[in-house]
Amino acid sequence: MPAMAWEYVTAGAGDELTVRWNQEAYQRIRLRPRVLVDVSKLDTRVTLFGQELAFPILLAPTAGQKLLHADGELATARGAAAAGTAMVLSCFSGTSLEDVAAVAKSPLWFQLYVQPDHGFTRELVQRVEAAGYRALCLTVDTPITGARNRETRAAVKLPPMPHLEGFKVDGREGHLHPGSAQVFSGVLDAALSWKDVEWLRSVAKIPLVLKGVMNPDDADRAAKSGVAGVIVSNHGGRNLDTLPATIEALPQVADKVAGRMPVFVDGGIRRGTDVLKALALGASAVFIGRPYLYGLGAAGETGVMQVINILQREFQMAMALTGRTSIASIDRSVIWA
Ligand code: FNR
Ligand code: LAC
Repeated sequence: MPAMAWEYVTAGAGDELTVRWNQEAYQRIRLRPRVLVDVSKLDTRVTLFGQELAFPILLAPTAGQKLLHADGELATARGAAAAGTAMVLSCFSGTSLEDVAAVAKSPLWFQLYVQPDHGFTRELVQRVEAAGYRALCLTVDTPITGARNRETRAAVKLPPMPHLEGFKVDGREGHLHPGSAQVFSGVLDAALSWKDVEWLRSVAKIPLVLKGVMNPDDADRAAKSGVAGVIVSNHGGRNLDTLPATIEALPQVADKVAGRMPVFVDGGIRRGTDVLKALALGASAVFIGRPYLYGLGAAGETGVMQVINILQREFQMAMALTGRTSIASIDRSVIWA
């Protein structure tokens, strides 16, 4: 992929410590296997908001995929369908949500960055629902962006974003330029609060998931406010550096939520054993970001499909080799404490 795209995808905030920790924390967790279990048949199915998926690995929303491949989000949607999983389309997609829905053959969710103009956001939510998206994913960890030094140095500019077309900031066109907080502030809402979550719940007919929760107290508040789920995420280390790894936050969040709603996790998942560990520590499913973007950059839809296939196969290996035959049987006893 072009150098500028590489910088955009791989970079994180500050000294990129959280980017590193997200992966390292999985490497420190050891597994506790059971042997002599018949693992000739594995059942990896999960049901999320009434929708059955063959395995619990989904695609996280990522902006500007046409930077990496000419087919951008369409290739990702086709790759996800070929591999048999769901995709979350970014609000900052370079392809319209209707065009993506037209080629998608597997479930789609839509990620929302609420705009200060609620009328605009309401119309967007209505378009999302009309196009058949099954869940809304509100990103709550990005009221502003963090210190994205590498992005700034690489002068990253994202392709045009049809969902924000004609969107005006103080009378001028809003331009997304990650790394430049001033310009980014035109398309992010620094005033976003629990009031907006309540408002969005009253507007949306499809389930609302909060993406970017790290603190168990926020997860508790989310459960009390009636949202459908939370994604434990630090935005792949792209916003606030020195946040802990998401796999460290996950068990605390899961304990606090105590089954009131599904808890998901993303960040640093690179191997099938990571998926197994996340499920053991309380996740109902996981999301991947950069891995499928590397597949997209390397080989378009085939690349996206291959990355998912590899992770899915490795996850099955991890289940079989720890003696776990169903999702329900993956609990904390699979972690070597
Ligand atoms: C992202 N992420 C993201 N999240 C979001 O809610 N909306 C977005 O538009 C984007 N855009 C985006 C672009 C790129 C290039 C990356 C790498 C990430 C964050 C993403 O959804 C997810 O939280 C992380 O990518 C997960 O970490 P890993 O799997 O990349 O380690
Ligand atoms: C990012 C924003 C667009 O992480 O979510 O680059």
